[in-house]
Amino acid sequence: MIIVNSISNLRSIISAWKQKGLSVALVPTMGNLHAGHLKLVNIAKQKADKVVVSIFVNPTQFGVNEDFANYPRTEHEDQLKLAKENTDLLFLPSVTDIYTSNALTTVTVSGLSDIYCGAFRPGHFSGVATIVCKLFNLAQPDVAVFGLKDFQQFTVIQTMIRDFNFPIELIGVNTERESNGLAMSSRNNYLTNQEKQIAPQLYQSLCHAQAAILKGQQCFADIEQQALLCLKTAGFTTDYFTICCSDDLSPATKQDKNIVILAAAKLGKTRLIDNIYFSL
Ligand code: PAF
Repeated sequence: MIIVNSISNLRSIISAWKQKGLSVALVPTMGNLHAGHLKLVNIAKQKADKVVVSIFVNPTQFGVNEDFANYPRTEHEDQLKLAKENTDLLFLPSVTDIYTSNALTTVTVSGLSDIYCGAFRPGHFSGVATIVCKLFNLAQPDVAVFGLKDFQQFTVIQTMIRDFNFPIELIGVNTERESNGLAMSSRNNYLTNQEKQIAPQLYQSLCHAQAAILKGQQCFADIEQQALLCLKTAGFTTDYFTICCSDDLSPATKQDKNIVILAAAKLGKTRLIDNIYFSL
């Protein structure tokens, strides 16, 4: 596995690959890799000749009171895991390489960026869209692979790819879960033992809501209220629990066929997100 820190080295290696006619898949990450990330790498390998993984804890997608400073950084372990997966190139840029002090440009996908998680994390999706846009520009991938646990993030990136005409095939990969249903996430490391017992109830509440919809319950507001109440009773501080149309994340109507239920809730200081998507 080649490890590259500088933008110029990344560009010259990728352009040499492209000159040989090789295709490139990019897996952007913030590191602290778990089985969910390794699944993305695995799928990327099936889709392109060369796989580039980036590890960059992106400061612009963290709010002032969020966990940027404490975000788990496990570079050495991550490198071993990626080498084992036969990753071709690991891009590990520094913050100053990525964000020059005179940078004036950001990317915002309007509308999608200030709802749901965006309403609770102002500026987050602009930070995500900007870094992903930059990584696309640097790595020039033919394929980009992201996890669907961050469903809203995926929709933001999908919309940016469409609006900016990036010639990139976007692939969304199903969430990896612990045996108790908890979605794998680097932030699960923050949970106390007691919180770990409660955390799977977030996914259970999504499954419950899905079952109610599949049974024909049509009052989505009632399902949402019921889920919020159950989560609060279990000890969560809820941000939102919302039934949407998975095509554009608008609130679902009885006519919608493609549904995603998005949820975010805190356990103590740890903010968890999860979702479930299905067709009617
Ligand atoms: O999902 C993540 O890990 C990050 O939001 C991403 C896409 C790597 C951008 O920093």
